[in-house]
Amino acid sequence: MLQLKNINSFYGNAHILFDINLKVEEGQVVGLFGRNGAGKTSVLRSIMGLTPPRCEGQILYNGEEISGLPAYQIANKGIGFVPEDRKIFPNLTVRQNLVVGRKAKRENKKWDLDEVYAYFPKLKTLENNLGCEMSGGEQQMLTVGRTMMGDPELILLDEPTEGLAPLIAEHLMQMIIKIRSEFNISMIVVEQFSPQVLDFLDICYVMEMGQIIFEGDPRTLKENEELQKQLLGVG
Ligand SMILES: Nc1ncnc2c1ncn2[C@@H]1O[C@H](COP(=O)(O)OP(=O)(O)OP(=O)(O)O)[C@@H](O)[C@H]1O
Ligand SMILES: [Mg+2]
Repeated sequence: MLQLKNINSFYGNAHILFDINLKVEEGQVVGLFGRNGAGKTSVLRSIMGLTPPRCEGQILYNGEEISGLPAYQIANKGIGFVPEDRKIFPNLTVRQNLVVGRKAKRENKKWDLDEVYAYFPKLKTLENNLGCEMSGGEQQMLTVGRTMMGDPELILLDEPTEGLAPLIAEHLMQMIIKIRSEFNISMIVVEQFSPQVLDFLDICYVMEMGQIIFEGDPRTLKENEELQKQLLGVG
């Protein structure tokens, strides 16, 4: 469904990503790991058309070349992005923040407020609160909910559980996995490495200094602590 072929991305003159090849098949959850600054966010931003000034190489989405398109067109093709910094509108209510996520195209709509509230009942109770009044965990539910309002087929999640207390992080991850299995949504998840995260991935990639240094079966990584240590400094 998504294929990156030899992607090289630049911020200004700085060359950040080097020959990235990555693939997501329909229904798959792909994990992307790497230390701080490895280039994980830049990969997601390159897919979304957000790396100025340029991204070279091919990005195919359902067989169609999408690199070079403006971000809103890429989003309209069915790719949803949950950015690292959440991007909640502080002066809009929870409900208004969700409505912003609706796309103009409304046929075959699967997600609207009722669906988001069914997965995240907490958001219903906070419906009229302002974005700036929410806790980190609530904000992250809201960002995921807002992305779902656009009915994506593929979602890119950039460290969705970052900064959340362990129980809240686990709950959010369970909801994300539930949404994925009930709606057959494909995902790329950037997360801090933990052996538990590997359990729900189909494929995982590890990056270092703008390159992919491991690609494979999550079980290979899970069973090999030496490899975890070598690739990620953990284990
Ligand atoms: N807007 C920018 N302008 C210039 N350089 C940038 C910009 N954003 C990121 N970089 C650089 O690109 C490299 C990759 O950064 P990126 O944010 O993709 O890493 P990351 O793996 O997501 O890290 P983290 O785990 O800290 O979120 C880093 O060296 C970073 O300093
Ligand atoms: Mg990042």
